[in-house]
Amino acid sequence: MSQLDQACESFRILMEQQLLRIENMSAEKVDFTTKKTVTIGLVDGDGIGPIIMSQAVKVLEKLLADEIAAGSVVLKRIEGLTIENRLEKNQPVPTDVLEQIKTCDVLLKGPTTTPMGGKMESANVTLRRELDLYANVRPVAIPEEDIDWMFYRENTEGEYVLGSRGVELPGMAVDFKVTTDAGTRRIARAAFDYARQNGKTRVSIVTKANIMKKTDGKFTAICHEVAADYPEISVDDWYIDIMTANLVNPAIRNQFQVMVMPNLYGDIITDEAAQIQGGVGTAGSANIGDRYAMFEAIHGSAPRMIEDGLGDYANPSSILKAEAMLLRHICRSDTAEKLENALVSCKTVVTGDRNGATCAQFAEEIMRLL
Ligand code: IPM
Ligand code: MG
Repeated sequence: MSQLDQACESFRILMEQQLLRIENMSAEKVDFTTKKTVTIGLVDGDGIGPIIMSQAVKVLEKLLADEIAAGSVVLKRIEGLTIENRLEKNQPVPTDVLEQIKTCDVLLKGPTTTPMGGKMESANVTLRRELDLYANVRPVAIPEEDIDWMFYRENTEGEYVLGSRGVELPGMAVDFKVTTDAGTRRIARAAFDYARQNGKTRVSIVTKANIMKKTDGKFTAICHEVAADYPEISVDDWYIDIMTANLVNPAIRNQFQVMVMPNLYGDIITDEAAQIQGGVGTAGSANIGDRYAMFEAIHGSAPRMIEDGLGDYANPSSILKAEAMLLRHICRSDTAEKLENALVSCKTVVTGDRNGATCAQFAEEIMRLL
């Protein structure tokens, strides 16, 4: 078979697998208001992961002490999602680790390292796919500027779903972007439902549909279809390039409320938004599916901080914000609010270097404020 035929054959297999994925998409939503026991999996991750997670777990244990004692909440430590173990097993998420994870309802996860190049898929991408965590929900707020943004990033398709499975021919490489009707409909619904339930009046669709005509064209069209069921919410379209500019335009940026977008644009613009809020260490991130949900810091494992011996100075704000999102997700809103308020009132400053407080000092102050 010629190399070209081989490439076409691999493309055919990819398309077939994607069609199958659509068939397996629908799942029933868990109702946490009636669930007797909620199991929270705790996954450390790499680099600064174990450092910020150990503090986040202390805070969680304090917040949920009564429920843990009563057995309505179980905290379950899951070992083995380390870069060393993943490389040794040659699996982005080793099978036994994934099995453990699937016994939980929700996860609190530290950042995991992704090797650059090579074939190893990012653990995050694998988990989002395996647990079908289709909505990446990232809030960014700057109250002094009246900014209250909520990003709904599609989390299981777009540029990511086949990101490790592109095709190469001599002198040429091709990656694929996948957008499905069902995949778009569910992220659009999640965004509009959030808007409706939280008194938001505007949803902005962000794509590059003038260039990515098929995939982003579909994304935009389906978001508009879904919008028809939410007549009280106004909807507008933006291209990703101008939207990244809008976020740094003080004249208009606080007019945006909920933004919904395909995977890669969402990845990029949420880092920008977090930086505007005060740094990538300051934003929480939720990965929500119908059956499972995973909560994590928006930032990576910061290997340079570890190399420089600054791990203890890592800022746990982002993982603690994710923890508050987890508590809201499992319908413990009062408990979530305690943590959110403590995060707002906390005056201990972590700078990421020896000039600021340590991760542990910050967590101590949070615990005092609870
Ligand atoms: C994020 C991260 C991930 C992503 C990486 C770790 C795969 O940047 O959650 O935004 O690109 O989605
Ligand atoms: Mg990112």
